[in-house]
Amino acid sequence: MIKTIAVIEGDDAAPEAMKPVVALLDSLNIGLEWVYPEVGEAAEARMGSIFPDDARALIDGADTTFFGSTSGKSGAALMYLRWGKETFANVRPCRYLAGCASPLANPEGIDFVIVRENLEDLYIGAEGQLADLAPLALTGRNIKGLVHEMGVGRYALKAITEEGTERVVRFSFELARKRAGQLKVTCATKHNMLRETDGLFLEVARQVASDYPDITFESFIVDDFACRLIREPQKYDVVVMPNLYGDILSDAAGGLVGSLGLAASGCFGNDYAYFEPAHGTAPDIAGMNIINPTAALLSSTMMLDYLGFAAEAFKIEQAIARVYSRGDVLTPDQGGTATTTEFVAAVTQQL
Ligand code: IPM
Ligand code: MG
Repeated sequence: MIKTIAVIEGDDAAPEAMKPVVALLDSLNIGLEWVYPEVGEAAEARMGSIFPDDARALIDGADTTFFGSTSGKSGAALMYLRWGKETFANVRPCRYLAGCASPLANPEGIDFVIVRENLEDLYIGAEGQLADLAPLALTGRNIKGLVHEMGVGRYALKAITEEGTERVVRFSFELARKRAGQLKVTCATKHNMLRETDGLFLEVARQVASDYPDITFESFIVDDFACRLIREPQKYDVVVMPNLYGDILSDAAGGLVGSLGLAASGCFGNDYAYFEPAHGTAPDIAGMNIINPTAALLSSTMMLDYLGFAAEAFKIEQAIARVYSRGDVLTPDQGGTATTTEFVAAVTQQL
């Protein structure tokens, strides 16, 4: 059965990682078809819109989207893939591969997944002028009077819903079952300060946990958890967090195993999922063919898994692991001198 994948290669150095990965997947001859929605500046120049209807139709019509990192105007497509497609669970695995340049003395055995709530929290995009809050007459903790009287300034709203929390926490418990590793879900929130919003997230997480007696549930205050994650990363299996903490700590997790070049992700909703390397567009190395394509490769294996090609995904993951353990063809961020294309060629050879 043919599966259609919409590819948005992204900006700056991102296409250099995406192109060889698409070529590798295509060479598997498993019936993948590729379509290329035009977004961002290119689309604006040609069609007068940074996210034209045609691009949207290609994304909607595809079985999934493979998305390179974007900056600037291509961001509109990312907003659509998240909020438009309601991809509420942003799954970001962190696994140590022998041979990768982890800064830790003992990185062996790191194998956890951050599940970041992907649509709520401070990411709802409701920001504005403090003065506009006057009709609400909010007191907050502002010792100088009402919130809108603090001074000239701006606000951002943080919103956490019961439904939004329940579905992402449930997803996390199901993932822990599927992984069959430590069978543990860890929740990290700032409920001691943000009693209403993060307090609700934790309360709902505890309720959902009671439906999964086979899975251990634990929770930490997020700043304390950041320290624990660096000191004893092997202790974690599935970690669920509100959006912003998940954004920040998933980059930190990339650092634990050596670089953001290893950070894969997949965003899952009830009827759509898309896959993207979690690193940025790396403008400083654009055009140099040295971006580490591991994050794109590992995101592509998550995508293959989602499309029903678990065996192929597993083989590619094993091939990547072998390239790292041999250690002779690694990109500069991992202490090597190989180019992006040489690295993907080495993985292809191991396949
Ligand atoms: C990520 C990125 C995005 C985010 C940016 C590009 C909007 O940092 O996917 O982690 O903050 O979610
Ligand atoms: Mg981020």
